[in-house]
Amino acid sequence: MNQLTSQILNRLRSSEGFLSGGELCREFGMTRSAVWKHISQLRKNGYTIEAVSGRGYRLNGSPGLPVSEEVAPLLTTDSFGRNLVFHEKVDSTNVQAKSLARQGAPEGSVVVADCQTGGRGRMGKGWVSPPGTNLYFSVILRPSVPPVRLSQIPLLAAAAIHRAVSSMVEGASATIKWPNDILISGRKVCGILCEMETEPDMTHFVIAGIGINVNLRDVPEEIEKIATSLFLESGREHSRPVILSAILNRFEPLYREWLEADDLRDFLPYLERHAWLKDREVTVDNYKGSLAGRVLGISRVGEMLLETQDGQVHRITSGEVHIRK
Ligand code: BTN
Repeated sequence: MNQLTSQILNRLRSSEGFLSGGELCREFGMTRSAVWKHISQLRKNGYTIEAVSGRGYRLNGSPGLPVSEEVAPLLTTDSFGRNLVFHEKVDSTNVQAKSLARQGAPEGSVVVADCQTGGRGRMGKGWVSPPGTNLYFSVILRPSVPPVRLSQIPLLAAAAIHRAVSSMVEGASATIKWPNDILISGRKVCGILCEMETEPDMTHFVIAGIGINVNLRDVPEEIEKIATSLFLESGREHSRPVILSAILNRFEPLYREWLEADDLRDFLPYLERHAWLKDREVTVDNYKGSLAGRVLGISRVGEMLLETQDGQVHRITSGEVHIRK
């Protein structure tokens, strides 16, 4: 959408009731037929615009896509989401964000897609990414911290998403599953995949890739028992632009606070209060093998503290956690 079309959209959005064609012509210094072309373009993009002769135009509905025109008016951030690149269909927003980051895109840039053909999950898994229903987005971060701190970012993002989701899904008890999932009623509603480019003592960038099942009604059979959506948990549809902006509005201040701090100390009370795993008997699978024990909590640097039967406390930095029956 070009800048003028987007300005006309904003003008329609801010007007209560009808806005006359003459008014638009005057404000934007264009002819009636030029105004009409922009209105047609907006309709092509899925906006419902009523045109009544003698009264003008009225915006009655938007397509609900997480595009800049919809998200920007809801942002309270300085940089997060201010540069937002939308794709109708893309392989993976993480892949696209990585390429933009390499080209120098500023911190806070967001790549979002309506649908992914190669959505990536953790541990080499895929991420189911059908069109018209969920949120798939990646935020470019350029934290000036040593790479050793980067494993804390997923927990930070999880805290921001948890806050946003909890404020939106009334009555649902969302929890954070270490290291980076959001669950509602014990089923996964959001996953986070952070990828980074670093040197041994320098961080170039981090891509925080976030997938949220928003209005998904039919969970694919293979993940039916472990996944859910905001729609299924709340019984109503949610606006993707509203959720995306709510997350970015919370993520940016948390991230800035974290940059100033040495570790996750200030966020631990929140992470512990909403932890899904605390005090549970679990098995953790990672590159070292499998370890069973009871989860004591999270350390200042984001490790999971796992007490094995012999009383030893292990600091786990990564892995897939399964609850033991
Ligand atoms: C997980 O396995 O839990 C992490 C899933 C992360 C999925 C998101 S969707 C947006 C971004 N692009 C990707 O390809 N993956 C992440």
